[in-house]
Amino acid sequence: MSEFVFVCKVEDVPVGAAKQFKINGTEIALAHVEGGECYAIGGRCSHLRAQLGKGTLEGTVLTCPWHASQFEMTTGKLLRWVQEPPLRRILGALVPPFLRRGVPSYEVKIEDGQVLVKI
Ligand code: FES
Repeated sequence: MSEFVFVCKVEDVPVGAAKQFKINGTEIALAHVEGGECYAIGGRCSHLRAQLGKGTLEGTVLTCPWHASQFEMTTGKLLRWVQEPPLRRILGALVPPFLRRGVPSYEVKIEDGQVLVKI
């Protein structure tokens, strides 16, 4: 059964950035977006398992640090498949659409400056 687990203090993740955490054996990418909200998705890219928490955040869109696939932080939905480098993009286009998938998303709440994620 899932329960909310302490991940970090809100200030541990700068606004406009994401960080990688491992909670009870589950890797997550936690993003702190403009406006103060925090969102958590699965920490490993659905392409080749890069650490998504090391990616770059624009709004609620997280870009994978390896080949630039993009994920929506609020849902874990895949927004864009592999882009870089060009050869990998060409090879990535050969992957059937049903294998290009998003990652799990996790419920987040903030209490007393602490980020809790339901794992
Ligand atoms: S590992 Fe993330 S796009 Fe390739």
